[in-house]
Amino acid sequence: NWTTGSVIDDQVAAIRAQVGDAAVLCALSGGVDSAVAAALVHEAVGDQLTCVFVDHGLLRAGEAEQVERDYVAATGIKLKVVDAAETFLSQLAGVTDPEQKRKIIGREFIRTFEAAAREVAAVEGVQFLVQGTLYPDVVESGGGTGTANIKSHHNVGGLPDDLAFTLVEPLRTLFKDEVRAIGAELGLPTEMVQRHPFPGPGLAIRIIGAVTPERLTMLRAADLIAREELTAAGLDGAIWQFPVVLLADVRSVGVQGDGRTYGHPVVLRPVVSEDAMTADWAKLPYDVLARISTRITNEVPEVNRVTLDITSKPPGTIEWE
Ligand code: XMP
Repeated sequence: NWTTGSVIDDQVAAIRAQVGDAAVLCALSGGVDSAVAAALVHEAVGDQLTCVFVDHGLLRAGEAEQVERDYVAATGIKLKVVDAAETFLSQLAGVTDPEQKRKIIGREFIRTFEAAAREVAAVEGVQFLVQGTLYPDVVESGGGTGTANIKSHHNVGGLPDDLAFTLVEPLRTLFKDEVRAIGAELGLPTEMVQRHPFPGPGLAIRIIGAVTPERLTMLRAADLIAREELTAAGLDGAIWQFPVVLLADVRSVGVQGDGRTYGHPVVLRPVVSEDAMTADWAKLPYDVLARISTRITNEVPEVNRVTLDITSKPPGTIEWE
C-alpha cells in the first residue's frame, strides 16, 4: 500500500538508523534524484548533512540559481557552492571530441568535489555519502552496493581510498515517478522535481565543436526559449527530453532585416521515450515549433536557422555527442 507519506516516513527512519550521529555529505547536480535524496536525508538528520554543489558552468539558464537559491530556501539544507566554471572552461578549451569532453569534465568534477569533500570532512569527520541511485540503476548494475562513486551523474570512477565513504541510498527501491512524488511532497521547487533528464557533462556535449563562453551564452538563450514555449504549451509531461544543440562549427547564410547574415544553426531534438534506451522523435505541434523558431532567430542574434531532428534511436542517439 504505497503512499508518498509512508515511503518518506520509512526512509527517514532507515536513514536515522543507518547514520546515527555521523556527518553526511551529498553532491547536488541540479537533477531530481540527488535533490530528493538529499532532502530525505535532511528530513532525517538535519544539519548532520552538508551538500556540495559543483557549478561547472555548463548548466542551462537558471539551473544553478535553482539549486543555490530555491532549493536551499525550500529545504534549509546546508550548501557549499563551488564555482568552478573557469577551471572547467579552461580545461575544455579547444576540445572537440565528445569522449574527451566527458573525460575532462568527469576528472575535473571529481577533483573539485574531492577538494570540497576534504574541507567538509576536516571540520565534520564525514562518514557517509548520499547517492540518488534509483531502482532501475540498481537493476542495471547487477544489484550490488557500490563504493562511493558519482557514476549516475558523471560517468566517472570513484573517489580515492581515504575518502571512501559508506553510501546512503534512500531511493534504491524507487522509480522516477515515485521520486518526483516524494520531491513534491517534501516541497521542492516544481521546476526541479519535474525536470527532464539532463546529462552530467551538460551543455558541453550540446555544443558541436569547442566550448567557449560565447557559444554557451548562445545555446543557453536558445535552450531557454525552447523550454519556455514547451512549458507554455503545456507539453512538458508529453515528452521525455528536449535537447537543443548548437552546431557551433557550421555557418549558414541567412537574411535578417536589410542584411545578409552568416550565423549558426541550432537543432531541436525533442524525443519521447520510456527509458532512454530507445526513443522516437516527438511530433510536437507545428505552432509550438514555429514559435520556438521565430523567437530563437529573433532573440538570439548569432543563430539564423532552426532545424528539427527527425531521427529515432536507434540509429540516432538522443544527444548529438
Ligand atoms: P544517448 O545520447 O546515449 O543518451 O541516447 C541517453 C540518455 O543519457 C543521457 N546522457 C548522459 N547522461 N552523462 C550523463 O549523465 C553523459 O555523458 C550522458 N550522455 C548522454 C542523455 O541525455 C539521455 O537521457
